[in-house]
Amino acid sequence: MKKVLVVTYSQSGQLNDIVANTIKPFEGKVDIIWEHLKPKPDYPFPWKDIHFWDAQPECVEMIPGELEPMNFDTNGDYDLIILGYPIWFLSPPIPITTFLKSDEAKKVMNGKPIVTIIGSRNMWVTAQENIKQMINDIGGNLVGNISLRDRHHNLPSVVTIIYWLTTGKKDRMWGIFPLPGISDKDISESKRFGKPILEAINSNDYSDLQNKLLKLKSVEIVPSVLSLEKKGKKIFGLWSKFIRKKGGPGNPARHGRLKIFKWYLLTVIFLITPIATLVFYLTYPLFYFQIKKNLKYYSGATTK
Ligand SMILES: Cc1cc2nc3c(=O)[nH]c(=O)nc-3n(C[C@H](O)[C@H](O)[C@H](O)COP(=O)(O)O)c2cc1C
Repeated sequence: MKKVLVVTYSQSGQLNDIVANTIKPFEGKVDIIWEHLKPKPDYPFPWKDIHFWDAQPECVEMIPGELEPMNFDTNGDYDLIILGYPIWFLSPPIPITTFLKSDEAKKVMNGKPIVTIIGSRNMWVTAQENIKQMINDIGGNLVGNISLRDRHHNLPSVVTIIYWLTTGKKDRMWGIFPLPGISDKDISESKRFGKPILEAINSNDYSDLQNKLLKLKSVEIVPSVLSLEKKGKKIFGLWSKFIRKKGGPGNPARHGRLKIFKWYLLTVIFLITPIATLVFYLTYPLFYFQIKKNLKYYSGATTK
C-alpha cells in the first residue's frame, strides 16, 4: 500500500478538519500516518493579548522554536507528504517553520512530492512563498496546494477572527457578526480534492495535479486582498526587526514595541485599508496584465 505522511499544526482543529475531509477518499486505499506537531511549550488557545502579538517577529523572520519529539518514522519512505498549516502574521506559524527547518523534515521530504493545505482568514499568499522556499531548501517538490479562507469581507473577518482567537468561541459575536473562520460548508466540501490527489499517488504522476485541483477551485485569490497583503508583508518585516532589537520571544523588554505594533496594525486595518482598496480598484486597469500574471503565479505550485 502507498504511504502518505500528513503533518499538521492546528490550534482550534479547523485546519485539521479541512485536511481530514480532503483525505477522506484515501480511506482504506493508502496508509496514512498523521503527525500533529506539538510546540514546546504550546501556544495558548484562546490567546492572551500580549502572547498573540509576541508571536509576530519570529513568525515573520521564520525563526524556529521547539517541538515535542515527533512520532512518525523518520526512516520511512513516504509516497506523498501533506503539509497542513494556518497562517500567522502573513507568515508560516512558528511550529511549521520549526518542522521545515528540522532534520526530520529534511530526511523525509528530500526528493518527495508535497501537497500543502492552508486554512487561513484570507491572507496566505506570501506565507506560501516562504513555505515554497523552505520546501525547496530541503529538496522537496511542491506538487499541489489547497487554500481555504474565510469568505466574508476583509474588515468583519478581522473583527470575528480576533473574537474567535481571544475567546475560543467560533460563534456569532454579539449575535450580529458573521461566523468566524472558514465555513462548515467549505470545510466539508474539501473532500472533493482527495480524488485527484489519490489518482496522482496511485499513478505516481503529479505533473498535472495542481491544474486538476485548480479546476475544483482549490485556490481563490481576491486581487485587492493580495495587494494589501504584499504591502503588509514588507512592513511586517520592518516591525519584526524593530521588535527583535529588544530581545527574543517572551522578553518583557519588547512589550512596549509590541503594544505600539498592535495599535499601528489595528489603525492601518480599519482606517487605511479601505482607502488602499479603493485606490487599488481605481487604478486596476493600469495594472491589469500585471495583476493577472500575479494571480496565475500565486495560484500555482511553482517557485519563482
Ligand atoms: C497569531 C495568529 C496570527 C494570524 N494571522 C493571520 C494572517 O496574517 N492571515 C490570515 O489569513 N490568517 C491569520 N490568522 C488566522 C489563522 O490563519 C487561522 O485561520 C486560525 O488561527 C485558525 O487556525 P487553526 O486551524 O490553527 O485553529 C492568524 C491566527 C493567529 C493565531
